[in-house]
Amino acid sequence: VHLADLPTPALLVDGPALAHNIATMAAARPGPELRPHVKAFKSTAIARELVAAGHDNFCCATVREVEVMAAAGLGADLLLANEVLDADRLGAVADRGARVTVAVDSEETITAAALGGVREVLIDVNVGLPRCGCRPGDAASLAEMARATGLEVRGVMGYEGHLMDWTDRAAQAAEVEKSMAQLVAAHADVGGDVVSGGGTGTYDVNHWVTELQAGSYTLMDSHYARLGLPFRQALYLLTTVISVHPDGWLVTNGGLKSLAMDHGNPSIAGERGDRGEVFFCSDEHTTITGRPGAAVGQHVWLVPAHVDPTVAKHEMLHVVDGERVVDHWPIDMRHW
Ligand SMILES: Cc1ncc(COP(=O)(O)O)c(C=O)c1O
Repeated sequence: VHLADLPTPALLVDGPALAHNIATMAAARPGPELRPHVKAFKSTAIARELVAAGHDNFCCATVREVEVMAAAGLGADLLLANEVLDADRLGAVADRGARVTVAVDSEETITAAALGGVREVLIDVNVGLPRCGCRPGDAASLAEMARATGLEVRGVMGYEGHLMDWTDRAAQAAEVEKSMAQLVAAHADVGGDVVSGGGTGTYDVNHWVTELQAGSYTLMDSHYARLGLPFRQALYLLTTVISVHPDGWLVTNGGLKSLAMDHGNPSIAGERGDRGEVFFCSDEHTTITGRPGAAVGQHVWLVPAHVDPTVAKHEMLHVVDGERVVDHWPIDMRHW
């Protein structure tokens, strides 16, 4: 299949760039030192590429991601790095033979895990992102409560998400050290083998976790590109010019229904030789300026600003190598 045969808008993965990203991270965080987060790519096909690179353990963000991973035979060690109350669905996955661990940060989530038939938990510690996680000083009593209900406490997790996109990398490293000091202190109180945390943006400055929870590095986006990390852009939205206006703009057929916009507009894939500036996106359109000579029917490659929610909108990743489409990977964990 050639690119010209794909209906657009189409989500593309640059196969060689994905392979480069997987190999680069595997060199820095080999085997179980990386627990790739499936929320970024939502495809068991990419999870299998990661297994081939030596990573058997995965992070999930939702119960459905755990269910799909386990059903695909990728259930060696799944961490739901999130709080849930419908833990009976996780217990059912564990009963079918997968290893399932869930994050807990309250009496309610501990009770749900125990009643739902989950056997293993991590105490989720808040390390600065105003989201889930207990106060570091409360981790020991939560661990005690969990053990009293018969749960195995494997250790702690703490996600420093508020520090992921700092472009001043020296300042970022200093803040990560402070943030992780809280997690290390909680771990000393809780015990267990696991200290889980980190992501793409801190992969080279977080030296305190036993396993890094990165996901976006596989595909990347324009927001993470600002950090200058050694990961290549591997995700594109292929769009087609459907209208060219004589006053200097053109319109492609992919808009905000095929792109997540919470990190801003997509950009033009300059590294592919594409030119122009994104003016704005509407539901089914992106208006582009600064591209003289554009013609109806041409392709425009857009770089999404935020990988995870962009992928979640699509059914299929089309794998490309140059101009050739070499595979089609279902986004089988799409939506939430
Ligand atoms: C709990 C958790 N861990 C890790 C990550 C890291 O992901 P990324 O590699 O995309 O920065 C995320 C992303 O949102 C997350 O929510």
